[in-house]
Amino acid sequence: MVPESVRDDFPILSRTVHGKRLVYLDSAATSQKPRRVIDALVRYYTTYNANVHRGIYEMAEEATRRYEESRATLAAFIGARRPEELVFTRSTTEAINLVAYAWGRATIRSGDEIILTEMEHHSNLVPWQLLAAEKGAKLRFIPFDGQGQLQLDVYERLLSPRTKLVALAHQSNVLGTINPVKEIAARAHAAGAKVLVDGAQSAPHMPVNVADLGADFFAFSGHKMCGPTGAGAIWARYEILDAMPPFHGGGEMIMLVQLETSTYKEPPHKFEAGTPNIGDCIVWGEAADYLQGIGMGAIREHEKRLTAYALHALGDVPGLAVFGPRDVEDRGGVVAFTLEGVHPHDVAQVLDQEGIAVRAGHHCTQPLHRRLGVAATTRASMYLYNTESDIDALVRGLHVVRKLFSPRPAPAQR
Ligand code: ALA
Repeated sequence: MVPESVRDDFPILSRTVHGKRLVYLDSAATSQKPRRVIDALVRYYTTYNANVHRGIYEMAEEATRRYEESRATLAAFIGARRPEELVFTRSTTEAINLVAYAWGRATIRSGDEIILTEMEHHSNLVPWQLLAAEKGAKLRFIPFDGQGQLQLDVYERLLSPRTKLVALAHQSNVLGTINPVKEIAARAHAAGAKVLVDGAQSAPHMPVNVADLGADFFAFSGHKMCGPTGAGAIWARYEILDAMPPFHGGGEMIMLVQLETSTYKEPPHKFEAGTPNIGDCIVWGEAADYLQGIGMGAIREHEKRLTAYALHALGDVPGLAVFGPRDVEDRGGVVAFTLEGVHPHDVAQVLDQEGIAVRAGHHCTQPLHRRLGVAATTRASMYLYNTESDIDALVRGLHVVRKLFSPRPAPAQR
């Protein structure tokens, strides 16, 4: 169980906004950070800031050791067999781009097909659009139904010997849908395709095991899981990384450089050119330790309870339509909605006046919103530090919105 005292770990939650208690419901955009993570970052810069894999003095060795320890922690966090299978990047977006450029350019040929879904974040669409345009490959899309679930019968028909990759979100950042990755991956492998999982919205919220999922690539990042911004990673099986050409060229990814040619280090260093984001990568490991101390299973259960509570409470707000699966077994704590007659940005702005932070817009998923038939939604997203009282505040705030935007009766005629 996640104790309510967990809120005390997050200094920011004691601040006020417009004189009201902060109700933070935007963790799908970025999570808040516990004191332990903030302190670890300060400790890095105040006591052992040095470049990694270069210096032979004590501080440089400490920075290198902690950077590699963090890699091992994060690899274990997602069930990887070896730390070398985890390559640090700046973000989930960069992790997906790394695969599109390094693996994709070497593998995808004219006429090949890449299967995506209609619920992808732009970061798992645009890199494949660029690759497909360059290579003359074709993108195919698994649609979702009225419950926000992928239509697996259509997926079955899309798969063919031309399919080289299936890339999909583990959990939708708008619908909250937790996709059946294991089943999708098994079918992709049977067709000879590789599978990339965008884990940006799943790794922070549920136990993840890449082997169990059957993924070939798994992308995720630190800032949505209580860690700092600017630290992400791509995991892939070692054999795949080993066979891939580099992504960026530069310092520290090489074995031998001559004027005309170079040879490269083994993974993961082959993919980490230049000075990495040392402090943030180290501190991301601290965040993973913090979450594991609470328990990823406990966090998932907490969010399931809270999501069920939210879906029930929001159901009582007149004119409010929630998107995504109704069953909390099939979804995470991301609740996107529209309120009849009020623009989603206006909803968010009025909620802000009540101290409630939510996101409004297309959430980097324009095709998904087009499919829903709306230009934008308002999204409340939860994490381990949210409670029922946050949901109660959201519902009270939505009643304030309705009151402000309800049509005024026409003035009486004299
Ligand atoms: N991808 C993040 C979100 O959905 C930023 O809000």
